[in-house]
Amino acid sequence: MTINPQACLEIAVAAARAAGGHAREQRHRRGEANQRLAHDVKLALDVECQSIAEEILRSRAPGYAILGEESTGDTKTADPDLPLWIIDPIDGTVNFSHGLPFWCCSIGIRLGACTLAGAVYAPDMNALYTATADGPALCNGAPLRVSSIAAVSEALIMTGLDKQMDPRRPSFEVFRAISVQAQKTRIAGSAALDLCLVASGQADAYFESGIYVWDIAAAALIVERAGGRTGLLGELGDGRLRFLASNGLIHDALREIIVKPSQNTQAEGFQTERKQH
Ligand code: IPD
Repeated sequence: MTINPQACLEIAVAAARAAGGHAREQRHRRGEANQRLAHDVKLALDVECQSIAEEILRSRAPGYAILGEESTGDTKTADPDLPLWIIDPIDGTVNFSHGLPFWCCSIGIRLGACTLAGAVYAPDMNALYTATADGPALCNGAPLRVSSIAAVSEALIMTGLDKQMDPRRPSFEVFRAISVQAQKTRIAGSAALDLCLVASGQADAYFESGIYVWDIAAAALIVERAGGRTGLLGELGDGRLRFLASNGLIHDALREIIVKPSQNTQAEGFQTERKQH
């Protein structure tokens, strides 16, 4: 099957603009929740935006499978030789629900293991990030390039914490280990936009444990096409992933810290001591 990545991107952009635009127009309803969890919320608008995106994707690319954060479709029965749209209708849901502008609609398309195109639309930031597998990474049409920071100690790292908020979980230990080593660690609340910051060179890496494919599919391609590196560090079950993306230069050093956080947290004393002399 021959599929044109640019044509897919145009469809993804149309769907992301429509879904993101709906959320923005209806922002006065951001408190309407279908479900409230201890550290998350499922909004009525999430579901509406997913259906708006799906309608466009189905009408412009009939027969392709769809996997989304709010999907009801069964992708297990989908033909694996057909492309798969991957949608997060509102990534950064908690931010959106509080009126913070750092949220987006993310739509990627995969054929097998290859991501063909990705669009990340952040309406409140007036930013549309895009990439195709054979083209450049762009923000509102301008080319993106990852940073040239080559040391973790000089790096700004985007991350997120496991939604279960259990301090005994490894993500807290990893957060501590990275924070000790990096110039600064930030939790901004939208994985897709965190990745777009890496692609733009405004952050140097992104790591999260417990993330889902719809949070990262589109934006990981954008990082790669901007000259960065991405990698799956593990699968945690139920579709939850450990995922690292970076400008490439600090990738191995950061992976080392993530994989052996306790060893690297112990380095804190050494580093502090070294700074004092
Ligand atoms: C969440 C955001 C957040 C990340 C969470 C994700 P959602 O996505 O990307 O930054 O820390 O792990 O689940 O739920 O807002 O689509």
